[in-house]
Amino acid sequence: MKNIVLVGFMGTGKTRVGKLLATHFKRQRLCLDDMIEWKVGKPIKRIFKEDGEGYFRKIESEVVRAASHDKGVVIDAGGGVVIDIDNVKRLKEHGTVICLVARPEVIYDRTKGSLHRPLLNTSDPVASIRDLLDKRQGYYNRADYTIDTSDLAPEEIVVKILDIMKQIK
Ligand code: S3P
Repeated sequence: MKNIVLVGFMGTGKTRVGKLLATHFKRQRLCLDDMIEWKVGKPIKRIFKEDGEGYFRKIESEVVRAASHDKGVVIDAGGGVVIDIDNVKRLKEHGTVICLVARPEVIYDRTKGSLHRPLLNTSDPVASIRDLLDKRQGYYNRADYTIDTSDLAPEEIVVKILDIMKQIK
């Protein structure tokens, strides 16, 4: 099986869906955000605050490099991983890249109160979501497939991904 790589904006369901897919296929799940935290030895919130976003992106690319050598795994990536084209190329080497998307209000609802998303920790998170979505649209289009998760339960998203995986076998 090719790797299944989940990308997409924060709050689009990558983590929940990644866990369900890994259970379904009995495959290992690699969460790139977790790998970054283990590598640096502190939570994402502190990495952004103490070392800056540039450092976070550098470590993110390093964990992409490590994770994309694996085969037959489910990878769930952080929302900004697609900004660097080399990350996308690497993730595509052994993987099918699926982008989960959702409407801004849905994203806000799913992410409010979260601790590992410093980019949304602003005075107007909905405006930040819209702004970042606008800036990143072109990057998310780099994925092989896109699924709008706004009105879907995680299990329904999994069914859609299973259909995709059947088509490409
Ligand atoms: C980020 C998304 C977060 C995390 C970090 C940066 C982004 O991951 O990697 O806060 O730039 O969109 P999730 O998409 O899993 O929330």
